[in-house]
Amino acid sequence: MSRIAYVNGRYRLHADAVVHVEDRGYQFADGVYEVIAVQRGRMVDEGPHLSRLDRSLSELRIPWPMSRRALRVVLVEVIGRNRIIDSGLVYVQITRGVAPRSHAIPSATASCLVVTARPLPPFDRDAARKGVAVITIPDIRWKRCDIKTVSLLPNVLGKQQAIDAGAFDAWMIDSDGAVTEGTASNAWIISTAGELITRQASTAILNGITRCAVFGIAADQGCTLVERPFTVAEARSAAEAFQTSTTSVVKPVVRIDDTMIGDGKIGPLTERLLDLYAGHMLAAGE
Ligand code: PDD
Repeated sequence: MSRIAYVNGRYRLHADAVVHVEDRGYQFADGVYEVIAVQRGRMVDEGPHLSRLDRSLSELRIPWPMSRRALRVVLVEVIGRNRIIDSGLVYVQITRGVAPRSHAIPSATASCLVVTARPLPPFDRDAARKGVAVITIPDIRWKRCDIKTVSLLPNVLGKQQAIDAGAFDAWMIDSDGAVTEGTASNAWIISTAGELITRQASTAILNGITRCAVFGIAADQGCTLVERPFTVAEARSAAEAFQTSTTSVVKPVVRIDDTMIGDGKIGPLTERLLDLYAGHMLAAGE
């Protein structure tokens, strides 16, 4: 079956889907994006994702290419045309558009919209329970990590550094020695006293939609939630650790650099949150 992408008003074969060479996304990374999970053909937390997209656009003063309602129609259409009847991901990218190369923001440029989607294997609880290793690296990003821009070079280099070190991801460390987040995920630890700790939303991290959903689930469960920066030393001595994102859901972290976390397996609270979040995710399709 052919993959279909949406590019500026047209549904095209994925192989033929192209943007202009002077698109500012290409030349300046002048654009934003969202990755939304699809379960049973329906988007998970579509509303929060589109609200975050709206925020990213307004922070960068990029106009919406169409109404939010019209974008929703395009997303549903791309999911349908790619026959994602079970699990998958839909990707939305909006850039400032095409203009002769100049740093200044051009006036009256039409924003460019690209939407792609791809199927994924159905959620596999046993695979999801498997713990992963992370390394720690300096956070060399800019000071507006709250905006979901396509400018991801430090994240790309960090992820590759993790892979080269035999790890799944890299947790980035700020100048105070505190963890900001993973290269494409939010970082969490559970202290030996049972506190669930994750960094508060600020310009230092992307406020993950999965982070917010897990936070709500944990609050409903009566967990002791603490939003504050935590150091690498604290993370290494934590009882449990995990990271959250649209693509990796709730991912147990069982090694940080050379230190094993807990007994090296998914911890009990992480497992409970994973199961509850999986329920939240699968309910999107009902
Ligand atoms: N990334 N932090 C960063 C830097 C991210 O890039 C992401 C997501 C998250 C988690 O956000 P959410 O829970 O809304 O997915 C945190 C996406 C998945 C990506 O770039 O592929």
